[in-house]
Amino acid sequence: MIKDTISIKVNKVERSRITDVDWDNLPFGKVFSDHMLVMDYKDGVWHDPEIVPFESLSMHPATSAIHYGQSIFEGMKANKNENNEVLIFRPEMNAKRFTESCKRICMPQIPESTFIQLIQKIVDIDREWVPSKEGHSLYIRPFMFATDDFIGIKPSDTYKFIIFTCPVGAYYSQPVNVKIEEYYTRAAQGGVGRAKTAGNYAASLYPAKLAQEQGFHQLIWTDAAEHKYIEESGTMNIVFEIDGKLVTPSEDMDTILRGVTKRAVVDIARHWGVEVEERRVTVEEVVTALREGRVTDAFGAGTAATIAQVAKIGFREELFELPDVTSRTLSNKIKTYLTDLKSGKVEDELNWLLKF
Ligand code: COI
Repeated sequence: MIKDTISIKVNKVERSRITDVDWDNLPFGKVFSDHMLVMDYKDGVWHDPEIVPFESLSMHPATSAIHYGQSIFEGMKANKNENNEVLIFRPEMNAKRFTESCKRICMPQIPESTFIQLIQKIVDIDREWVPSKEGHSLYIRPFMFATDDFIGIKPSDTYKFIIFTCPVGAYYSQPVNVKIEEYYTRAAQGGVGRAKTAGNYAASLYPAKLAQEQGFHQLIWTDAAEHKYIEESGTMNIVFEIDGKLVTPSEDMDTILRGVTKRAVVDIARHWGVEVEERRVTVEEVVTALREGRVTDAFGAGTAATIAQVAKIGFREELFELPDVTSRTLSNKIKTYLTDLKSGKVEDELNWLLKF
C-alpha cells in the first residue's frame, strides 16, 4: 500500500517549451507538456512520487512489460472555464477503472483518492498547458507497467506509474465509417476486454488495418463466441438511436470496457427523459433496423473523441448510410452538452467536475 501522506518532490524545467507549440494546429497526442509524474513500486510499496521534466525513459532490454504486456493505462481530459479554473471530467471513474485494470493484470493498486490527487498535481504544475480553445483539451495519460528485468513469466515485483499530459485537438476530423466485424475479435469472455491494457489495443490493429484497406475508419466489434452481439466500436463504446430509443451494449459483459464517456451519455440521456436500453444488442436487430431506416443516429463514445458520429455502417456486402450528421438531434445535443459542461459553460448539475 501507498503511504497515507504523499509528499511529492518537484523538479521543474529550466525553460518551458510552451511557446514552441502551434496552438492553432494542435494534433492529437504528439505534443507533450513540460512535466511528468513518476512513482516507483518496489519492495512491496509505492515510493514517493516525483514530478520531473518530461523526458525519455531508459529501460533494460528484458523489462517485462515489453515482453509480456503487463501494462495498463487511462485516458482523461482537462479543460478550462472562463475564470481560468481547471476542470477534470469524472476522474473518480477513471480511478476506479484503473483499480479494476490493476486487479485483472496482477499489478499493485493505487488508492483511488491518491490517483486523483496525483492527477490533480501534475495537471496543476502544467496548468498553463490546458488549452482554452473550443474543441481542444489537455489529455491526461496515467499508465503503469512492469519493470522487472526478467524474462520468466510471473507478475513483476517492480512497477513504474507515470502520468504525462498533452494538449490535444480533435481525435477524428470527420464522421467515421465502420464495418461490423464477423471474424476477428477484440475480446473474449473471461479475457481482458474490460481492462484498459496495452494488448487489447495491439490486438485491434490488424483487423482495423484490413477494414481501413476497404475504406472504413474502424470496426464494430462483435462477440468472440458467435459474432452475434455488438460490443464496441474501434477504441470506443458504441451507441445507437433506434426507434427513438438510445440502445447500447450493456457493460455487464466482461468483454466491454466500462467507458466514462459512455456512462455520461447514458446518464445524461436518462436525465433528459430519453428512453435508454442498456442490454445485449444483436447484429441482426441493428442490421434489420438499418435496412428499414430505423437507425437515426449512431456514435462512438470515448474520452479521446468524446462523441464520434458514425456516417456509414458496412455489413457483409451492404453499406448503410445514416442520416446526415447535421440533422441528428441526439448525438449533436449530447456532444454540445458534454463539450459545454467540460469547459464550464453549463451548470454542472450532476456534480461531475473536479475544479481547481
Ligand atoms: C478513447 O477513446 O478514449 C481511447 O481509449 C482512445 C485512446 C487509446 C487514444
